[in-house]
Amino acid sequence: MSAIRRIDGELWMEGVRLAEVAARFGTPCYVYSRAAIETAWRAFDDALAGTDHLVCYAVKANSNLAVLGLLARLGSGFDIVSGGELARVLAAGGRPDRIIFSGVGKSEEEMRAALSAGIRCFNVESEPELERLDAVARAMGVRAPVSLRVNPDVDARTHPYISTGLKGNKFGIAHHRALAAYELAARLPNLRVTGIDCHIGSQILDMAPLEEALERVLELAAAVAARGIPIAHVDVGGGLGIRYREEETALDIGRWCAAVVARLAGSPYSLVLEPGRAIVGNAGVLLSRVEYLKLDKDRRFAIVDASMSELIRPALYEAWHEIVPLAAPDRPEALYDVVGPVCESSDVLGTDRRLAIAPGDGIAILSAGAYGMVMSSNYNSRPRPAEVMVDGARAVQVRARETTGSLFAGESTLD
Ligand code: LLP
Repeated sequence: MSAIRRIDGELWMEGVRLAEVAARFGTPCYVYSRAAIETAWRAFDDALAGTDHLVCYAVKANSNLAVLGLLARLGSGFDIVSGGELARVLAAGGRPDRIIFSGVGKSEEEMRAALSAGIRCFNVESEPELERLDAVARAMGVRAPVSLRVNPDVDARTHPYISTGLKGNKFGIAHHRALAAYELAARLPNLRVTGIDCHIGSQILDMAPLEEALERVLELAAAVAARGIPIAHVDVGGGLGIRYREEETALDIGRWCAAVVARLAGSPYSLVLEPGRAIVGNAGVLLSRVEYLKLDKDRRFAIVDASMSELIRPALYEAWHEIVPLAAPDRPEALYDVVGPVCESSDVLGTDRRLAIAPGDGIAILSAGAYGMVMSSNYNSRPRPAEVMVDGARAVQVRARETTGSLFAGESTLD
């Protein structure tokens, strides 16, 4: 993870010692690096300079207002999937005409909110959604800009739970129905066709399936245009994988952008991308503290104060996150399963980790900037953690830790 370094045994993020952040804001606590987020976003934007493009950050990866605000100031677009994400982007200063709206289940209310805001485009995922959007737009007296998310039936070769481009998935319009769906969209009077999009999955480390999907989408775009329905933009989705462990190689942002630009050269399309994880994933860590070492002859457990409630990825996808101590005091090294306090056997953050730790020590769970806090829950009535943004030598709390009282503030007992 490039945002953090070890200096004299201590872990730092930019100009801030992470042990100090843990002491000041408590644990568990998410910490993000402003520089890392901005650098990753610029890697896309710089690689696409010279091509008409819009990088639409996938808000679902990390929707903290401070993260969205940084990206809005850089001129980013946003890919949203709910009315809640729309409200967040607008509150953070994102431009409505740079918002695209994805997702299979948009409600009428969400469509109305997005049309009132004046978003750039709806990524429509089914024929009934086209009809609903047309009706909502008609009632408002406007035309809704649409792109159709097509399912290219390409295997992203990633974890099945985060693979979306195969024909058995609920996502997108099946490749063989796409032309008919475009004809329907062109007939509906309150829709305006603007583009085509796809997204085949997440944490993709191999460029071949992405290239294959792009090829299939471009073929379809040409077939749509041949029927007199012009396509203005091609949206290649997100899905670029990051490095979670040393032996992995991240999908190179510059190489992928160069491949897309080369393939689009001479075409009439502008380009949209929807990266999430590649922008925030390696920019964040989850800080925690060792509560107990529970030693048994079969298994040795490090019980820490973070859990699957704060970071569900290991439990849900068997995802691997590196776990490191915040400082390097002189302690014996041993193998541990790092587990949380939640009452589930799957509440494991990492198995068989070689660590030199003792109760009270701080640890960091790395590469937790994407799909960490946004997927957290209050399971076991655990307040959600604080979030902190590091900016050079300062650490700013950008979301307060929830209080226990707030967890049941909306509940009541029977009279
Ligand atoms: N566009 C669409 C339509 C998506 O569904 C997604 C992610 C993205 C863009 C952004 O993908 P990214 O660049 O972040 O890979 N919770 C899972 C990942 C789920 C991804 C869902 N869709 C995880 O923790 O690995």
